[in-house]
Amino acid sequence: MYSLPKISKISIKGNANEAVFKRATHIFNAGGLVAFPTETVYGLGADATNDQAVARIFQVKKRPHFNPLIVHIADIETARGLAYFDDRAERIAGIFWPGPLSIVLPRRENCDLSPLVSAGLDTVALRIPGNAHAQTLLKTTACPIAAPSANRSGEISPTLAIHVANSLPGPDEGGPELILDGGRCNVGLESSVVDLSGPTATLLRPGGISRNSLSHHLGSLVLAGNNNVSPRSPGMLERHYAPQTPLKMNVTSALSNEAILGFGKIVSNPTLNLSPNADLTEAAANLFSMLHQLDKGQFAAINVAPIPNKGLGQAINDRLRRAAYNG
Ligand code: TXA
Ligand code: MG
Repeated sequence: MYSLPKISKISIKGNANEAVFKRATHIFNAGGLVAFPTETVYGLGADATNDQAVARIFQVKKRPHFNPLIVHIADIETARGLAYFDDRAERIAGIFWPGPLSIVLPRRENCDLSPLVSAGLDTVALRIPGNAHAQTLLKTTACPIAAPSANRSGEISPTLAIHVANSLPGPDEGGPELILDGGRCNVGLESSVVDLSGPTATLLRPGGISRNSLSHHLGSLVLAGNNNVSPRSPGMLERHYAPQTPLKMNVTSALSNEAILGFGKIVSNPTLNLSPNADLTEAAANLFSMLHQLDKGQFAAINVAPIPNKGLGQAINDRLRRAAYNG
């Protein structure tokens, strides 16, 4: 296997050369993080098929909850291998890709993507970025790259490499192993996110491509939350993965027909263990796939051991609370 290169201080200015792209590939293969320019904003990238690497994204951004991430790919063939494209998706992908458009589509059941990029949902947001450096990176790396904006949660999205360096910790403190400097992002605004996973085309986030040109090619395009039924609150618009099986938190025992999802050594014989070593990044990486495994109707309840409410534990507990409420 690969090991992560040790870099204590990196010079980022104008570093987008062949050697640096090779280093980026190495870092992705080893489960590391690379911040890179796109035409919209800088992204904080990880190999989208690596659960642990994707979990690190949430850790570095210090997000108190998991939201699904955009998966970046080099070409439409790769995109079709990850999700189901219908005529609408083919049409707008053909017109706006590469470019500032992310399309939410049903995931292929057996695709290699980490369930964490979808926050446990059965959909995935895909985008082919137009920026030349991003294209080179995706082609040399040859893996789909999950990337939210490369800023700490709650801060402004970065449009210069220096913004990334100022917002995120350095590699010694768990931040990205590399920041690829491609100069200024020329769109400077995040991609438009269009949900085509259901019958109604829905604009989830206005962005780099105008609503008018999107609806021109889609026939109709509903703005998320813009109706009389649901209140316009971003928190309520987000869909969440909810298991069918009732879920209980902070439980250390189970009846014979119940599952117990362990953490560390608190429970002696858990059905599955999020992290035997009580590592929160590992627990986050396993969360959605283990919930899916226990939610096949074979148990009367899913009991989850206590998870410390610090760092990534906050995002894990947030998601478990919603699952417990829904269940
Ligand atoms: O321009 C951009 O889109 C940048 C660059 C780096 O590509 N990325 C970005 O990612 O802004 P992020 O994670 O900050 O925003 C992703 C947006 C969120 O609003 C998220 O809720 C939505 O896309 N999203 C992603 N996957 C989704 C899914 N499966 N279902 C619904 N919404 C999804
Ligand atoms: Mg963002």
